[in-house]
Amino acid sequence: MQNFTFQNPTKILFGEGQIAALATEIPADAKVMITYGGGSVKHNGTLDEVRAALGTRKVVEFGGIEPNPIYETLMRAVELAREEKVSYLLAVGGGSVIDGTKFIAAAIPFRGDPWIFVTQWGAGITTALPFATVLTLPATGSEMNSGAVVTRKATQDKLPFMSPLLFPQVSVLDPTKTYTLPPRQIANGVVDAFVHVIEQYLTYPVNSPVQDRFAEGLLLTLIEEGPKALAQPRDYAVRANIMWAATMALNGLIAVGVPMDWTTHMIGHELTVLHGLDHAQTLAVVLPATMTVCREAKRDRLLQYARRVWGLTDLPEEQAIDTAISRTRSFFESLGVATRLTGYGIAASAIPAIVTQLKRHGMVALGEHHAVTPEISEQILKLCA
Ligand code: NZQ
Ligand code: ZN
Repeated sequence: MQNFTFQNPTKILFGEGQIAALATEIPADAKVMITYGGGSVKHNGTLDEVRAALGTRKVVEFGGIEPNPIYETLMRAVELAREEKVSYLLAVGGGSVIDGTKFIAAAIPFRGDPWIFVTQWGAGITTALPFATVLTLPATGSEMNSGAVVTRKATQDKLPFMSPLLFPQVSVLDPTKTYTLPPRQIANGVVDAFVHVIEQYLTYPVNSPVQDRFAEGLLLTLIEEGPKALAQPRDYAVRANIMWAATMALNGLIAVGVPMDWTTHMIGHELTVLHGLDHAQTLAVVLPATMTVCREAKRDRLLQYARRVWGLTDLPEEQAIDTAISRTRSFFESLGVATRLTGYGIAASAIPAIVTQLKRHGMVALGEHHAVTPEISEQILKLCA
């Protein structure tokens, strides 16, 4: 196992009815800006519950944060928060609202153009407003991590950044708030969480049985519970299990002491910014191809994945790996998420522009061995067709 430091300060309030606890979690004298997306939290009553929990505190609202949150929109929130002298942020929504709120939290006190955070992996963040979240879409893990992904449309950049100052102070995870998710978003969430685990697991062995078995447990849980959430949308236990699995998938715990490979995510971000695919749709397309192209580097782990996650204990090595890759694809497809570029109307002729984007964004040495060059990314993309 590699050396590591682990600290995750986010307090989790899990379960039905927990929004009410924000009444005591957020400072009584805070002036709170509630941030939200396109309106789902208004329609399903979540916003009303949040307002009730905040009681007599002064509240400002900023809605309209879009999926794959956009810099220009977030800067309008920053302006409003500065004008109103807001002291605390409360994100109510999915990963996009939470990510956007992280950007806003760091940008409010920043002098200069905060776009630098996004282009330089969080550089320049020396302070941030405190914030809490109410999660309505289990997927990204943003509710318990310090990362965010922000897009600038004009320049076609969708980039991740992080800072230890961007952990939420408190996150409410109430599974009943996910009941109104459309099937597409339920499936997206399962796929995103699954790929987060894979990208911290499917690398090379470093003798890390604790991390491995946590990761395998999360994958098995998502494989078992994902289809149930689509079949029985109001099953509390299923929603609770998926919600906790998605949070655990990217809160740092399974990442400690092990190599990681974010190739699939980085290629996926370019597909979203150029072609508008949902984040998880990009991952469902790219992951099976990454597994195939990087098969030799990942051989030991692919075999472990085949044997322990897909139960392929009787097959010979090559066949077990082939089957594990095809089971992964079938799992995504079974949730209704297409796994080929053609499934989203994207032709192979689109590939050179995606590779150019990767180069422009410095994504030229991806993977656990920094060996995924633009040429290898191109091979991966060709297999996605
Ligand atoms: O905008 P509203 O009206 O709220 O509707 C949203 C949105 O249209 C809807 N939704 C959310 N909760 C709902 C609901 N609809 C009905 N009922 C509910 N309870 O779902 C749609 C998608 O929401 P979004 O927040 O965009 O989805 P997700 O949580 O998948 O977030 C995706 C973003 O997170 C980034 C992605 O790149 C993408 O920008 N990621 C962030 C990460 C992180 N911070 O660690 C890691 C991830 O890898 C990911 O990159
Ligand atoms: Zn993701």
